[in-house]
Amino acid sequence: MHSLRDALTTDADRAVFDDLVAGRPTVWRPHRGGTAPDHSALSALAPLVDAAEDRFRWFAPLFEELFPDTRGRGGIIESELTKVTALSEALGTGFDAPVPANLWVKRDDSLAVSGSVKSRGGIHEVLQTAVETADELGIDLADGPLTFLSETTRERMATRRIVVGSTGNLGMSIGLMGAVLGFSVTVHMSHDAKQWKKDRLRASGVEVVEHETDFTEAVHAGRLAAEADPHAHFIDDENSRSLFAGYAVAGRRLAGQLAASSVVVDAGHPLTVYLPCGIGGAPGGITYGLWETFGDAVRCVFVEPVAMPSFLLGRLTGRDDAVAVTDIGRGEATLADGLAVGRPSGFVDATVGHLVAGYATVTDDELMRVLRLAHDVAGMKLEPSACAGLRAAGCLGDGDGDGGTHIAWLTGGSLMPDEEFAALLDSSAAF
Ligand SMILES: Cc1ncc(COP(=O)(O)O)c(C=O)c1O
Repeated sequence: MHSLRDALTTDADRAVFDDLVAGRPTVWRPHRGGTAPDHSALSALAPLVDAAEDRFRWFAPLFEELFPDTRGRGGIIESELTKVTALSEALGTGFDAPVPANLWVKRDDSLAVSGSVKSRGGIHEVLQTAVETADELGIDLADGPLTFLSETTRERMATRRIVVGSTGNLGMSIGLMGAVLGFSVTVHMSHDAKQWKKDRLRASGVEVVEHETDFTEAVHAGRLAAEADPHAHFIDDENSRSLFAGYAVAGRRLAGQLAASSVVVDAGHPLTVYLPCGIGGAPGGITYGLWETFGDAVRCVFVEPVAMPSFLLGRLTGRDDAVAVTDIGRGEATLADGLAVGRPSGFVDATVGHLVAGYATVTDDELMRVLRLAHDVAGMKLEPSACAGLRAAGCLGDGDGDGGTHIAWLTGGSLMPDEEFAALLDSSAAF
């Protein structure tokens, strides 16, 4: 551990490292300047995101048919972008800190199908796998995506399995979507996963394997099981380009939503986006989609629990996925189960890590206070992980002085059973 610290070159970085070790909330702005960053690996991703957009469009009639919530958008899975002035004021008062008044929220907490940011990537990879599987099985898709609803197609799809490791929400999106398309699905859940998520999946016919280990181990177990089954496709949260492309579509679409709300984003009006981060796939993909559109005018901030600051630790030390939070004595339980990842994605780190403008860590205590405020002031039902972006709003220190727009990405909550949320709200009174 000391060697990790000794390798840091500035007092500011060493202070952030000490905060991580001590479990104190912190903010880190990576150094910029010197040689221009190398964006060459990024251009290879654009065609994948184009293909993901096309795929979502092709499947839209199926979503309209199956998920009535998507009909208002022609079968496109998308969430609202809304301004939350009263909540911004309440956060400022509650935490006695400046929170930008021009604060918006992106409502992925109520995204169709699985009620979280993970819907976007998880569903995308299931759709891609479905088309590839249909091709392998000789299923003719000339009549469009509703072919997947026919009994004969479903029977044939059921001979193929999708396997994934998850802290909960990725498993939910893949399990629920995979089951709809007739796949057999197995979800390997880490010990952090909530019981209601396992129950929901089992009720939809998904096989859930419970592990007493952390997320990295659950992914590993899933990968081994899939390798042993010639008819299984493993969805790899650590490395998947297909997941990443699905998340990136959201970044592109946000540009359209901002324009529709007459929000200007340019060098004089920067956009700061606060993204809850687990392994880094969802925030990384969104960062990429936003960077494509806005370049340096967008600043993405990754927000992690103090128990699991894996992405920040990887970037700060330059060790990326070669370092885990347990190497600095952290990795304890957190209420932010969706963000309970001890080692970041090496792929996301290497491709978009240099685009991230800042990092923040938050305590469980803070998440619970935000959860209560968001409910009391704005009527929102958020899971603790989804509160991370709101807590970090304004953390880069320029508050309203930057003349820009701030967006907290709300990442999960709507599928949480009411009694589960009521219990969370009750317990939030203690924080
Ligand atoms: C609610 C919620 N928010 C954010 C994330 C972060 O996504 P990622 O693990 O891809 O960084 C997750 C991951 O499961 C999640 O469940």
